[in-house]
Amino acid sequence: MDKIVIEGGEPLRGEIAVSGAKNAALPLICACLLAPGPHVLENVPDLRDTRTMLALLEALGAAWQRDGATLIIDTANLHGFEASYELVKTMRASVLVLGPLLARMGRARVSLPGGCAIGARPINFHLQGFQQLGVSHQLDQGYVDASVDGRMTGATICFDIPSVTATENILMGAVLARGETVIKNAAREPEIGNLVDMLNGMGARIKGRGSDTLAIEGVGRLRPARIRIVPDRIETGTFLIAVGATGGEVTLTNCDPALLPSLYAKLGAAGVAVREEADRLHVSRRGPLRAVDIKTMPFPGFPTDLQAQMMALMCLSNGLSLITETIFENRFMHVAELHRMGADIRIDGHSAIVSGTGKLRGAKVMATDLRASASLVIAGLAAEGVTEISRVYHLDRGYDDLVGKLRRVGAQIYRAAE
Ligand code: EPU
Repeated sequence: MDKIVIEGGEPLRGEIAVSGAKNAALPLICACLLAPGPHVLENVPDLRDTRTMLALLEALGAAWQRDGATLIIDTANLHGFEASYELVKTMRASVLVLGPLLARMGRARVSLPGGCAIGARPINFHLQGFQQLGVSHQLDQGYVDASVDGRMTGATICFDIPSVTATENILMGAVLARGETVIKNAAREPEIGNLVDMLNGMGARIKGRGSDTLAIEGVGRLRPARIRIVPDRIETGTFLIAVGATGGEVTLTNCDPALLPSLYAKLGAAGVAVREEADRLHVSRRGPLRAVDIKTMPFPGFPTDLQAQMMALMCLSNGLSLITETIFENRFMHVAELHRMGADIRIDGHSAIVSGTGKLRGAKVMATDLRASASLVIAGLAAEGVTEISRVYHLDRGYDDLVGKLRRVGAQIYRAAE
């Protein structure tokens, strides 16, 4: 197993090209199951999670090939409808095959994901939604065995709270249902807009893109897609925060500045300057960091996937910062590791109170989940001395060549065998 070693204290300078979004690539790969034939996906990040999703599609009978960032996925011959426990336990997003398999094959057997490091993360909204579309399911040896007689039937579904993957799953089921489906209180994350564009390009009829109400007029069949994955806004945000932590000046290319409305205001207030240009962002920090408060919210609010990284940044200010996590009940696993680096953070329920100490010190720390790992990398880049992060497979799940990208802007960071 590899570890990451960082010698902190180098300001970052140069240019980084942002990769395609993990959380768009995963549902879009699943959407290829909806229409038989070759689909072309561009700007696909090369991640452990995208590889896992491709392994899952392969197990269902699909074939794929990669040429750089372009994936061709041929789903002409599907022969299976099961997502095994072995795959689902390593990646919860595997549950996204439920909608496409039910729409195409009328049957799906998907392992229940179980809990994970950041919370319980049930899939009851997915299952209730499909039930409303006429799907019946039973639990069998830890698997959800779902089936529908013929096509699903359109219905009005209202989520208790906006769920990203439940919105995507129902969307992928409803495009081939009989009649109209309306999803109310739908999630509005930009990755869902990317999925809507792909599905409409395949011949689906979805209205309401970007809003909290999606109306889907079911169609009889879809054709293969050609679509570009949107830039990864969480990777973008991670680099912006990293430059805030180390100081220096970096230009991010291949990004979409419109996708992070809530982050720029917070970074600006913290003393990190971000300038937007068509598909670029320029970020720099010269003066001291100021403390800001953060509360995670569904899009367009502050993303939970940047909470851990922002907490590392706040440890480097000299003020008091209140960070409130409203999406997941257990997403403060990075706090204990940041303590090892000299941070002063107190957890009180869903909030963390960060007393910025102005600096961090290198230490041996352990990655616990994907975004927590990113926060430890940021802390290590800014810390005095050497930081060693173990269990880096978490990072490999969601960041395409993080170490290489950071090295090219001057970070002293490398991978080593543990
Ligand atoms: N929820 C339920 N029941 C459900 C579904 C969700 O109670 O059936 C709850 C969750 O427990 C949570 C809230 O609803 O409290 C919102 O969770 P959501 O369903 O939106 O999360 P998700 O779809 O499982 C996606 C991303 C996560 C990201 C969240 C929130 C993908 C593949 N995953 O998860 O990404 O944190 O939305 O934005 O899109 C990551 O990339 O590190 C990551 C965890």
